[in-house]
Amino acid sequence: MSRIAYVGGDYVPHRLAAVHIEDRGYQFSDGVYEVIAVVGGRLLDEERHLARLARSLAELRIAAPMSPAALKVVLREVVRRNGIGTGSVYLQVTRGEAPREHAFPRSARPMLVATARRSKPADPAVGERGVAVITIPDIRWRRCDIKSIGLLANVLGKQRAREAGAFEAWQVDDTGRITEGTSTNAWIVTGEGKLVTRAADSAILNGITRLALLDIASEQGFEFEERPFTVAEAKSAREAFLTSTTAELLPVVRIDDLPIGDGQPGPLSRQLRAFYLAHAAGAT
Ligand code: PDD
Repeated sequence: MSRIAYVGGDYVPHRLAAVHIEDRGYQFSDGVYEVIAVVGGRLLDEERHLARLARSLAELRIAAPMSPAALKVVLREVVRRNGIGTGSVYLQVTRGEAPREHAFPRSARPMLVATARRSKPADPAVGERGVAVITIPDIRWRRCDIKSIGLLANVLGKQRAREAGAFEAWQVDDTGRITEGTSTNAWIVTGEGKLVTRAADSAILNGITRLALLDIASEQGFEFEERPFTVAEAKSAREAFLTSTTAELLPVVRIDDLPIGDGQPGPLSRQLRAFYLAHAAGAT
């Protein structure tokens, strides 16, 4: 089956899918995006993703390209036309095409692009083994709550992680506190068994996986606290883990070459991972 993309009103072959060189996404990163998991052909936590998209658009004063109902039709159609069972949908909305000028153009139409990708179900061995993270300075702008397509600092950070043999880089603010990973949210478990993740301030993206896990933590009676934590606290934590749409929940077993706990995924991380995977599979 050949891949199909949605580009500004048309379904086109993926290899021919293109926007104009003066699209403001291309020139200014003037746009936002979402990545939604597809599980059994269904869009996981779709409402929350669409609510976050609406918020990101509103923060940047970009008009919604269509109603939420119409957008849902497009996303389903992209999933259907690509025959996706397990995978993800990527959607991006930019301010549109206009002659290059920093200030908002008077008449640009927002440009919606959506693609779908098949992926193998996540390898359970990674979840069993856990992953390593490094820490790096957070050099991003102060509106990381907006899911902007401007991801250069994240790209550089992820590359540093790869070159260090780590899965992710946890970014650290000027006060020594961890904000989040380059494409994941960061969590620790304290000595008292309390889950800690940074509150959804403007230094982090309010992850949909993060929100789903906070719901699970409340439902299942886990103690949790939303507050920043330092690198030192993370390194001496009982457990650590990260969350995102594509990573789901992965235990963190090393930070900057220091083992966390006994260097194995901890019991709470394992339990929460199982609860999250059940949620993703549609069981909760
Ligand atoms: N990344 N923080 C950042 C900076 C992110 O880019 C992401 C998502 C998250 C987790 O958010 P969610 O749980 O909604 O996926 C946190 C996506 C998956 C990406 O850019 O590919």
